[in-house]
Amino acid sequence: MKTIHIEKQNSSIFVGESYLNIKNYLPEKKCFLICDENIYRHYSEFINQFDYIVMGCGEGNKNWQTIEKIIGQLLERGADRNSFLLGMGGGLVSDVTGFVASIFMRGLEFGFISTSLLSQVDASVGGKNGINFGKLKNMIGIFNPPKFVICDPVLLQTLPKREVRSGFGEVIKHAFIKDEDLYNFLNDNCEALLNLDPNLMEDLVYRAVSIKTEVVEGDPFEKGERKKLNFGHTIGHAIENNSDLTHGEAVSVGMNLACQLSQELCELSNSDAKKVDDLLQKFELPLEHDVSADTINQYLIKDKKKNRSTIDFILLKKIGEATIVTLPIEELKTKVIALCAKS
Ligand SMILES: NC(=O)c1ccc[n+]([C@@H]2O[C@H](COP(=O)([O-])OP(=O)(O)OC[C@H]3O[C@@H](n4cnc5c(N)ncnc54)[C@H](O)[C@@H]3O)[C@@H](O)[C@H]2O)c1
Ligand SMILES: [Zn+2]
Repeated sequence: MKTIHIEKQNSSIFVGESYLNIKNYLPEKKCFLICDENIYRHYSEFINQFDYIVMGCGEGNKNWQTIEKIIGQLLERGADRNSFLLGMGGGLVSDVTGFVASIFMRGLEFGFISTSLLSQVDASVGGKNGINFGKLKNMIGIFNPPKFVICDPVLLQTLPKREVRSGFGEVIKHAFIKDEDLYNFLNDNCEALLNLDPNLMEDLVYRAVSIKTEVVEGDPFEKGERKKLNFGHTIGHAIENNSDLTHGEAVSVGMNLACQLSQELCELSNSDAKKVDDLLQKFELPLEHDVSADTINQYLIKDKKKNRSTIDFILLKKIGEATIVTLPIEELKTKVIALCAKS
C-alpha cells in the first residue's frame, strides 16, 4: 500500500489498501454508507454491515432530487452533526456523497471507497464535489476534501470494460500534461494495464494520484496551474453532454481536438500529436464524434470556466507539458467550426 497525504486539505489517499480494512479508517461515529445500485449489486455482502443508502446509477441521478432523497433518509435514520458519510462508488457517488456531507447540518465528515478507475485517479483527489443542473455538468457544488480515500485495485475487477477504458482516458491526460515518463509507462504496458494487472494498476493509480495531488496542492482553488487538468475537457464536456460517450471517451476526443489546436497555436510537433492519437487508440479510446459545431459552441458559452468573453483553454506544447492560453470565446467558436468541418 502507498499513502499520499494532501497537507493543505488534511486528506489522505491510500492506494492499494483493501476496502475490507475500512473499519481501520472510520472514526468512532455513526456511519452511513452511500452507494449506487450497481455497487450494491456487486458488493451487497460488504455493504450490508453498514446503515446504507442506495442511489440510482448514471449522470441523470446527479441532481437535486437525489440530494433531497438522501437527506430525507439521513434524517429518518437519525443522522446528526456527528455522523460520518462513507461514499462507495465511482465519481458519481463520491461527488454526491461529498456534496450531501458538505451541506447537511452545515457539514459532516466524509470519506470514500473509490471503485472506478476514473474516480481513483481523478475524482478522489482535489476536494471538488457537486451535482449537475439540468444538462449542465457540475454547476452546483463546493470544494471540500474527504478525510480519506481508499483506492483498492481489486474493486476494478468488476468494473465494466468500457468504464475501465474511460478511466484510462483520464490517466493518459495526466501523462500528456505533466509526465513524459508516465506516457512511456502507459505506452510500454498497454496490454497488461488493460487486463488490470494488479501490481501495475497500483503503480499507475499511485503515479496518477501523485500528479494530481501535486497540482492541487499548488493551486487548491483552480486559479492557475490546476486549470491544466482541464486538458481535453472544455470541448470534451460539450461532447459528453450531447452524445452517448462516457466522460473518459469524451475527454479522449477533446484531447485530440485540443492537440489539433495546439499544432496551430503553440507549435505542438506533428510527431507528438501523432503520439497522442496513437496512445489513445491503443487504449481503445475514440478520436471522433458526431456532435455539431453549433451544439458544442452553445455549450461553451455556458462553461463555468469561462470569463466574460474569454475562456482559458489548455493546449499541449509537447508530451508532458501543457500551457494555459486565454482565447476569446468568439475565436474558439470559429476554431470549433473549422475542427468539426475537418472531421
Ligand atoms: N470531483 C471530481 O474531481 C471529479 C473528477 C472527475 C469526474 N468526476 C465526476 O465523476 C463522474 C464520473 O465518474 P465515473 O466514471 O466513476 O462514473 P460512475 O460513478 O457513474 O461509474 C461508472 C459506472 O460504473 C459503475 N461502477 C463503478 N465502480 C464499479 C465497480 N467497481 N464494479 C462495477 N461497477 C462499477 C457505476 O455504477 C456506473 O454505472 C462524473 O459525474 C464526473 O463529473 C468528478
Ligand atoms: Zn475528467
